[in-house]
Amino acid sequence: MTLKEVDSTNTFLKNILSNSKPVPEGTVIMAEDQFAGRGQRENVWHAEPGKNLTFSILLKPAFIDAQSQFDVTRAASLGVYDALMPLLGHKLKIKWPNDIYYGSKKLGGMLIENILQGSQIKHSVVGIGLNINQEHFPDNAGNATSVKQILHKDYDLKNILSEICGHIEAYYLHLKAGRSAFVRNTYISRLYLLNEEQNYRSNGQVFKGFIKHVTDEGMLIIDKGGEEAAFNFKEIEFLNQ
Ligand code: BTN
Repeated sequence: MTLKEVDSTNTFLKNILSNSKPVPEGTVIMAEDQFAGRGQRENVWHAEPGKNLTFSILLKPAFIDAQSQFDVTRAASLGVYDALMPLLGHKLKIKWPNDIYYGSKKLGGMLIENILQGSQIKHSVVGIGLNINQEHFPDNAGNATSVKQILHKDYDLKNILSEICGHIEAYYLHLKAGRSAFVRNTYISRLYLLNEEQNYRSNGQVFKGFIKHVTDEGMLIIDKGGEEAAFNFKEIEFLNQ
């Protein structure tokens, strides 16, 4: 379903889930203009109307238990990666946990909201924002880029959306068939700054380190001067980005 204008496709999808009618798995809500898009860390997500992809997919991964919920993040990130890879090539990376990067610039991000029931995931609202045909970004957009800035061409949003959905489905089906090791290893191999020295900050301390791994639960493992340390999303900041 495409909406002309909505606050946030994630919020919209969560609202229709709490109404009486069941919403089928695989439902995609796309917005031409999302005027109150939500990002990670309580940030807002800005995108010029009509030029970018802002959408949410409903998954019902009851076969994934809560402690493995990072598998949903992996499937979604890899699906976006595979869809964009034929256009953008090997400079495309996944920045842990789920940003899409080209070189050192951010092409897009995700807000995945899982609704748990006991130890299972009842609903997963996978919200994805990708900069496609936007040419200019405000100064406060940091290191944002778009497919148009990279390739100097306009792309059909619906085509890219359907590629992304097809590839996410493929990874989701791997998970469903018990092939989570394949999905986890592929995710690691696509990581931004894997085994490259980089500055990080955690708890006010700045240090150099190398990304080595991501645990099954989704924690980032960094080699810090010969010792490995594990970080949750809110515990670590990538510097010089
Ligand atoms: C981030 O990098 O901070 C995550 C951005 C996620 C934005 C998408 S756009 C579609 C969906 N609806 C939202 O309100 N947010 C996500």
